[in-house]
Amino acid sequence: MTRPHVTLNAAMTLDGKIATVGGDSRISCEADLDRLHKLRAEVDAIMVGIGTVLADDPSLTVRRVRGKNPIRVIVDGGARTPPNARVIDNSANTIVAVAKKAKREKLKKLRNAGADIIIGGKKEVNLPWLLRELHSHGVRKLLLEGGSTLNWEMLKRGLVDEVQVAVAPRIVGGEKAKSLVGGAGFIKVQQGVKLKLSRVGRVGVDLLLIYQVVGVRGAEKNR
Ligand SMILES: NC(=O)c1ccc[n+]([C@@H]2O[C@H](COP(=O)([O-])OP(=O)(O)OC[C@H]3O[C@@H](n4cnc5c(N)ncnc54)[C@H](OP(=O)(O)O)[C@@H]3O)[C@@H](O)[C@H]2O)c1
Repeated sequence: MTRPHVTLNAAMTLDGKIATVGGDSRISCEADLDRLHKLRAEVDAIMVGIGTVLADDPSLTVRRVRGKNPIRVIVDGGARTPPNARVIDNSANTIVAVAKKAKREKLKKLRNAGADIIIGGKKEVNLPWLLRELHSHGVRKLLLEGGSTLNWEMLKRGLVDEVQVAVAPRIVGGEKAKSLVGGAGFIKVQQGVKLKLSRVGRVGVDLLLIYQVVGVRGAEKNR
């Protein structure tokens, strides 16, 4: 399959949460934010799910280091991205990938705001198709920045090559707090996405873990 190399990056608490029950996702320490912006400057595109745009209103630009802003890609089946979201501005191109269920009026508003729209998938965005599309537009390195649901859908399909996680020295609890990977989950540990630890380091007060994805059962064709 021809697709970009995909790195999933996230900051989580020691108990695996990427946001609190109250929706606070400011988990990284300052040094980890510097690392994230360096990572952003090294990729062609950054991808997030609509849940993340609605929760955090991120701009997804490179600000803490020198570097070019990557293309921003929002996975947004129903075109729920607010046209005034920070992610749509003239600091970089923004692609909103929607499904066929998205209403025309919403697409028109997003286009008027400056976003490029691509349509693939019936109810959800077809992720293997999206990655092929991005590749055909020259995207070779893609940074996946969450959230929980999109991380699951990408990982279970074997569409992630590397996982970088900064573990903050905090425990926030909360059954409903979003964790690194949501979705339906695997029944057996044996079915889980197999990883190989390639680096352990300290970034400020956080612990940085870098893993290479070895494989996902049944998803070999996507690697
Ligand atoms: N700490 C961190 O590093 C970090 C980073 C990012 C996000 N976060 C947190 O993560 C939370 C958001 O995560 P989330 O799980 O709610 O949302 P999400 O993963 O950002 O977005 C998921 C949504 O994307 C849409 N979608 C369309 N096609 C999809 C597909 N094929 N696969 C998956 N999703 C698809 C769906 O909405 P439609 O049905 O409307 O299309 C789905 O509900 C927020 O609390 C945010 O703060 C934390």
